[in-house]
Amino acid sequence: MTAAAPQPGEAATGTPAAGTPAAGTPAAGTPAAGTPAAGTAAAGTAAAGTAAAGTAAAGTATGTAAGTAAEPAAAGAAAALLEVSDLRVEFAGVHAVAGASFVIMPGVITGLIGPNGAGKSTTLKLIAGSERPTGGRVVYGGQDITGHPVHQVARRGLIRTFQLSSEFARLTVLENLLVAVPGQRGASFLSALRGKRYWRAQQEELLTRASALLAEFGLTHAADQYAGELSGGQKRLVEIMRALMAQPRMLLLDEPLAGVNPSLREAITEHLARLRDEGLTMLMVEHELAAVDRCCDSVIVMAAGRVLAEGPMQEIRANKEVVDAYLLG
Ligand SMILES: Nc1ncnc2c1ncn2[C@@H]1O[C@H](COP(=O)(O)OP(=O)(O)OP(=O)(O)O)[C@@H](O)[C@H]1O
Ligand SMILES: [Mg+2]
Repeated sequence: MTAAAPQPGEAATGTPAAGTPAAGTPAAGTPAAGTPAAGTAAAGTAAAGTAAAGTAAAGTATGTAAGTAAEPAAAGAAAALLEVSDLRVEFAGVHAVAGASFVIMPGVITGLIGPNGAGKSTTLKLIAGSERPTGGRVVYGGQDITGHPVHQVARRGLIRTFQLSSEFARLTVLENLLVAVPGQRGASFLSALRGKRYWRAQQEELLTRASALLAEFGLTHAADQYAGELSGGQKRLVEIMRALMAQPRMLLLDEPLAGVNPSLREAITEHLARLRDEGLTMLMVEHELAAVDRCCDSVIVMAAGRVLAEGPMQEIRANKEVVDAYLLG
């Protein structure tokens, strides 16, 4: 399996990784300094640490890591990595997201909870670009990305994982990782013309990165196994590793612990905490409140397409409106 492999049909579901056409500026080829990817998080960690403290330096670090000539963010909003304002989308009369607003600080894991149909997955899709909002704004790293397509958003380091695992069952685990990076050099006709040496260097780099991730996640032994043969929990890990191959700055995780047995849940939770400590920012949909308690630094509660409450889990539990709408809903 190489970058020239067919892009599996997952593109239709808006996968930010394998379905992304090469666009000439491969994320993998430009793992910018400050990109807090797994294992290479020194700069990212420092940035996140500062950011968590809510200082102006966080905004600077964020802008730099974006790898863009970021406009100076407005004072006061400087520390936020993601700002969602009055986000809306409607499907055939259903207001799936009906004016959601929240802010995500860098270097933390924020939980997104709420009853079935609250609009959690749709919110992640709107942020990641797989659905277009009918109203509102998404600002990421100081840049307005509202309605930008998945591959553009992914190239900025904002990657979504799926509620249902999206691994390619007929590819091995290693192959799943190698095809997960947007805009690989070998994937375009032009780069094919430039010759093998051009993309071989990148392939080697990807292989090194994939091997390191497999080792970090304790799945080296499964590298050559078909992904379809893995347990539900291992598939979740592959899903997370696939997202990490793109060296994201922020992950949008849609129920990464769903259908996972307790011991692997524990392991995934630990991996997420480690990634957070290395500087990765995460917004994570999760149903089980005990897991949210363990994993998340703060929580956003959605109901009927809106944000009902935000804050530490302790406060959320004491909020009667939330208890009525969600905990007992
Ligand atoms: N493509 C779509 N077409 C029509 N309706 C949709 C579409 N996507 C979502 N919806 C509707 O929007 C609402 C919110 O859905 P969403 O999947 O975001 O909820 P959720 O909070 O993720 O729920 P769950 O916890 O069950 O995953 C639901 O009523 C759903 O049926
Ligand atoms: Mg959902």
